[in-house]
Formats: sequence, structure tokens, C-alpha cells
Amino acid sequence: LPATKPAELPELTTPRLRMRHAAPGMAAALAQFMTRNETFFRRWDPPRPSDVGTAAHWRSQSATAVREFRAGSAVRWVLFDRTAGPRAPVLGRINFTQIFHGPFQSCVLGYQLDAGAEGKGLMQEALRAAIDDVFKVRSLHRVQAAHMPENVRSARLLGRLGFAQIGLARRYLFIDGAWRDHMLTEKINDAFDVTRIGSRS
Ligand SMILES: CC(C)(COP(=O)(O)OP(=O)(O)OC[C@H]1O[C@@H](n2cnc3c(N)ncnc32)[C@H](O)[C@@H]1OP(=O)(O)O)[C@@H](O)C(=O)NCCC(=O)NCCS
Repeated sequence: LPATKPAELPELTTPRLRMRHAAPGMAAALAQFMTRNETFFRRWDPPRPSDVGTAAHWRSQSATAVREFRAGSAVRWVLFDRTAGPRAPVLGRINFTQIFHGPFQSCVLGYQLDAGAEGKGLMQEALRAAIDDVFKVRSLHRVQAAHMPENVRSARLLGRLGFAQIGLARRYLFIDGAWRDHMLTEKINDAFDVTRIGSRS
């Protein structure tokens, strides 16, 4: 029998962005993205391993990302300028992790944009496409996102995308040296097709 080729990893395009699923070939660009933005992300992001600025770290992380995508437990997008070539810098990341199937059909959303690309509506544009994909293509019913109340930009972004506040979770995540309260938010897929429950568990 001929060996079957593994299915291609997905891509999404928006008016300004090309979004590719994380893959080991992007390791060097991801390492540069994290190094470049280390100070910018520190205030809002969990602590990173000491080798987060190395391609070796991202090669192994991306291999895990591909395995988890194929297992249906995560979808991790890497954002590039739509017109940029193959050596383009990474503009941002969007991760849907902790995907559960069956009666929960839920996931947790995280995102980061390059400091130099902020304030142009790019993350909103990317998240619209990515959330459309998790609802329509991955058939999820719920996306949850958490932000520190002080992260006003993130709060506004989620509000614009139609996320509703669930409530304040105390000492929720260890960020920048301390346990930080987080506002939990949710977006529900009102067009969810219930006949798909149980098709993947
Ligand atoms: C939070 C974060 C993703 C926001 O990215 P962003 O691309 O600036 O967010 P948006 O897509 O919502 O852009 C909206 C901003 O662009 C402006 N904008 C300019 N052109 C626009 C356009 N064509 N369409 C929409 N908004 C536009 C808006 O006025 C708005 O500015 P404001 O936030 O000052 O009001 C980014 O700041 C980031 O990565 N921060 C650090 C990490 C972090 O906080 N992660 C999230 C942890 S919960």
C-alpha cells in the first residue's frame, strides 16, 4: 500500500494577515519574536523557560503543537504579514489549547502581538478568523479567555469580539512574579450543531 501523507496543516488568510499553523520550520522566527518582545510580554504572560529565545525550544514546542493539532487537543496559529515572503518575521501568535470534546466542546484562548504591530486592529482581525475556524471547522461550542483587569487593551479587544465576562477569578495565574487575579470571559457558538456531539470524544 502507498504510504499516506499526513494531512496538510491549516492556513487562514485575512485582508492583512496570513495565519499558518505552528510548525518546526518556523522555529527561528518564533525564537526571534519571543526575544524581541520579552519585556513587552512579561507583564501579562506566564514565566517562560530560560531557552524560550532559542530555535531548539521552538522546534520541540512546534513538534508538540503539530501532534496536539492532529490529536484535536490544540490549534496554534502563527501570524505573518499577508504579503511577506517565506523569511518574514512573526507578527503574533494565537493559541487554542485545553480543547475538550463531547458535552464540553470547549477551549482556552491565548494571544500575543508584536509590540511594533499593536494598535492597528490586527489581533481583532486575526481572532475573528481564528474563532470562526474553531466554531465552524473544529466544531467547538465555547472559547474561554482570561485577562488581568489592568490589561485594558486585551479587555477591549475581547469586548469587541463579543466575549462576555464570567467573573473575577482570584489569584488565577502566576504572572510576573505573583499570583494575579484574572477576569474570565467566554464566547459561545450560538450556531453550534448539536448533532456533531459524540462524533469525536
Ligand atoms: C492585547 C493585544 C493582543 C492587542 O493587539 P491589537 O492588535 O492592538 O488589538 P486590536 O486588534 O484590538 O486593535 C485595536 C486597536 O487598534 C486601533 N485600530 C487602528 N486601526 C484599526 C482598524 N483598522 N481596525 C480596528 N482597530 C484599529 C484601535 O483603535 C485600537 O486601539 P486602542 O486599543 O488604543 O483602542 C496586544 O496588545 C498584545 O499582544 N499585548 C501584549 C500581550 C497580551 O496582553 N496578551 C493578552 C493577555 S490576556
